[in-house]
Amino acid sequence: MEIPTPDYRHVSDYKDVYEPAEDTFLLLDALEKEKSFLESIRPTITVEVGSGSGVVSAFVSKILGNSTLYFCTDRNHKAALCSNKTFKVNKANVNVVLTDLVSGLLPKLKNSVDLLIFNPPYVVTPSDEIKGSGITASWAGGMHGREVMDTFFQLVPTLLSDKGVLYLVVIKENKPDEIKAMFSNMGFLCDVVMTRRSGPEFLMILKFTRKSANNRTDNSGSLCLSSGKNSS
Ligand SMILES: C[S@@+](CC[C@H](N)C(=O)[O-])C[C@H]1O[C@@H](n2cnc3c(N)ncnc32)[C@H](O)[C@@H]1O
Repeated sequence: MEIPTPDYRHVSDYKDVYEPAEDTFLLLDALEKEKSFLESIRPTITVEVGSGSGVVSAFVSKILGNSTLYFCTDRNHKAALCSNKTFKVNKANVNVVLTDLVSGLLPKLKNSVDLLIFNPPYVVTPSDEIKGSGITASWAGGMHGREVMDTFFQLVPTLLSDKGVLYLVVIKENKPDEIKAMFSNMGFLCDVVMTRRSGPEFLMILKFTRKSANNRTDNSGSLCLSSGKNSS
């Protein structure tokens, strides 16, 4: 059964908050596609980094129900307010934390996050554009669009539980093959869940799980080459 998109009509009332866009909707589609997997790992703690409107966490709470404790973060206080409103309107029980990446959640959530989600600022921009906390912070990713996500990547092994999974939005300019290699060195496997072209952007949803939780070895193929078969 199709999961309805949460109500986000109020988002335009909040200035400087990222309105759900093609990347958001691809992430929702990917999470819906992953429903059986997500149910199979029975997440106890779910964290979305950079919740913006809150529509992604509200959607996940419809997939997993009340069996999970939900947190989301954003460093834009208007996004935190908007997320709260989205959770209220959609009767989703999600705790909003105003913080940089996951600073406000560590060390309490060390190795205990089963489901981690990030649609990061991924657009290639000059480095100094990533510093603000307004709307620019929604998309400005600095060099290769990777500066914010690279900082986040270092925190992933500390955050995720043994069975934990990370879903990440990237574009081709972020060098997904390099990201895959970086995560492989940290003990993670990478799969492409979905891809979609949106104007000039080639969007991908990457999924990372610990090698120790899989009976698979690394596949050495290029993500960009293999992504075609996952296109939606
Ligand atoms: C591309 S938007 C995604 C918003 C929403 N998750 C979605 O998919 O529609 C990125 C979000 O990350 C937030 N963000 C950027 N840098 C951040 C940081 N260092 N810590 C927390 N949130 C951050 C932005 O404020 C923005 O809300």
